Amino acid sequence: MKPEIIWVDEAASTNSLLATRCGNLPHGAVIAARRQTAGRGQRGNSWESEPGANLTFSMLLRPTAITAVAQFELSMIVALGVCDALTAASGLDFRVKWPNDIYAGDKKICGILIENSLEGRRIGRSIAGIGINVNQRQFLSDAPNPVSLANLTDCSFQLEPLLDSVCRAILERMETYEAAPVPELLSKEYRSRLWRGTGFHLWKDAATGEDFEAEIADVAVNGLLTLCDRQNKQHVYAFKEVSAVL
Ligand code: BTN
Repeated sequence: MKPEIIWVDEAASTNSLLATRCGNLPHGAVIAARRQTAGRGQRGNSWESEPGANLTFSMLLRPTAITAVAQFELSMIVALGVCDALTAASGLDFRVKWPNDIYAGDKKICGILIENSLEGRRIGRSIAGIGINVNQRQFLSDAPNPVSLANLTDCSFQLEPLLDSVCRAILERMETYEAAPVPELLSKEYRSRLWRGTGFHLWKDAATGEDFEAEIADVAVNGLLTLCDRQNKQHVYAFKEVSAVL
């Protein structure tokens, strides 16, 4: 499916702009901003992006087979699609940091903010907002570990063809999944692409503020993360309840 991409010179947030326009737009439509002035991130953070240097865009998804309780499936599909396209563009390996950041090594190259509007058990529409650091070389915000494709490769990339391939990769994954949805297979692939997906690493429990060593035991199809600590005790977390210590 060819994505319908609308470029605008400036938007406060492409997620917010798409939300106001999505009534008239089809599944797969994209709004991309050359300059985003109030980009929104996870946990109420802002999203830094140098004007004209990166991709800041939002894609409208109208899932048919994915229900509200299974909305994490969308998150997995979008994250895996972004990895597919970034690897095709650069030849590098990208990993998904639970739940849906995209990492190169220990650095963050892409953030994803998915905003769903639920209609009973259905997802009426989903707005997948994606920020990919492409040609920006220096980062000014207090984000701990940003990196761009240009930092990683010492090359610069044309934004429009890259956006086209990222959108195609997401839509291709979405179409394949919706034609034959097998959540266990999707989860298995997601697990295999996880950053720090194997071995013991440091995590911080948000409720206690304590750091502890654990390995990822499972990510359930609903997105809950199960960590197993050195004493073999399992801890189950929702998003924001735990974070990886960098
Ligand atoms: C994160 O905190 O990691 C998520 C960042 C998401 C940023 C993108 S940029 C395009 C879209 N519009 C927004 O306001 N946010 C998302």
